[in-house]
Amino acid sequence: MAGQLSIIRPDDWHLHLRDGVMLKAVAPASAMHFARAMIMPNLVPPITDVESAHQYRARILEATKGHDFNPYMTLYLTEDMSPGTIRAAAKDAHLLAVKLYPAGATTNSASGVRDIARVMPILELMAELGLPLAIHGEVVDDAVDIFDREKVFIETQLEPLRRALPDLRVVLEHITTKDAVDYVGASDKNLGATITAHHLLITRNHILAGGIRPHYYCLPVAKRETHRQALVAAATSGNPRYFFGSDSAPHSDTAKLAPCGCAGIFTAPVAMACLAEIFDSENALDRLEGFTSIHGAEFYGLPLNESRITLRRNDAQASLPLPLDIGGERVVAFDPTRPLYWSVEHEHGHDG
Ligand code: DOR
Ligand code: ZN
Repeated sequence: MAGQLSIIRPDDWHLHLRDGVMLKAVAPASAMHFARAMIMPNLVPPITDVESAHQYRARILEATKGHDFNPYMTLYLTEDMSPGTIRAAAKDAHLLAVKLYPAGATTNSASGVRDIARVMPILELMAELGLPLAIHGEVVDDAVDIFDREKVFIETQLEPLRRALPDLRVVLEHITTKDAVDYVGASDKNLGATITAHHLLITRNHILAGGIRPHYYCLPVAKRETHRQALVAAATSGNPRYFFGSDSAPHSDTAKLAPCGCAGIFTAPVAMACLAEIFDSENALDRLEGFTSIHGAEFYGLPLNESRITLRRNDAQASLPLPLDIGGERVVAFDPTRPLYWSVEHEHGHDG
């Protein structure tokens, strides 16, 4: 059944664009659909100061030339981050948040935080200056089962942090559990969560049942079906605490299809089509705009985009994006489990 929907042009509040040839190849896929994105700082070496963030931003603008795309930058929190850097970031219109990676939790997180107590003075300053903290919410502990690492992080790290600093604005990134949905939903203020498209579509069965499928592997890893259903309910609820962050995270097949393959799913080219499909199947298309184009901007205190897109449901299945060839390396885009029928069209009008 054909159909169409006009929404404010969406934003992506959690995006990995990488650098160099990879950046050039993957960034247009985001810039085509999204007006703004919050760019993750986990390059090698990570983006830990305002000057490097500006230089990275300039490379992103170069890679997305011809598109109306405004990248907002983040700084990678290390245990030796200086208060001066935080003060400079809080004043800078292009810097939106500081990202906390527990050391060892995921791709390029080795320089992250081992002990939150050691960054408390920095977090206090951020609370005072109103600079938000974006968190990869998983504990790094061999004794904790990988499927429980988000839940345990909430209980042992996030809840004590929120009690100690209730004024700190926090985004729990890429939530994957009912526990996270409930925790964010029950909080009174200053806490939001991003949800990816892939965590709304896949469970751990997609990764592990009937053969191991590295293109579905990311961190936090997809959980069981009850958790996926809680995420779908949250995303389609209209609750402004939940907003879209793709966590689109491209890796070459050489890096993914290895004995120790990288975590990350490259969803940028299909993210909006996937979301339209999900919201449509939940009879919640009227709430898609809030999730992709309003709630995140409001959380970060930014104006809404002025331009719009039209999502169109076609009778014929849309063709899936072809793998990218990046300097001889293949990068495969997310392969959703159900066929995609939605396409994205631009409406005239420009954002500044
Ligand atoms: O799957 C993931 N990939 N999770 C992360 O937190 C990082 C990301 C990446 O940079 O590849
Ligand atoms: Zn990420």
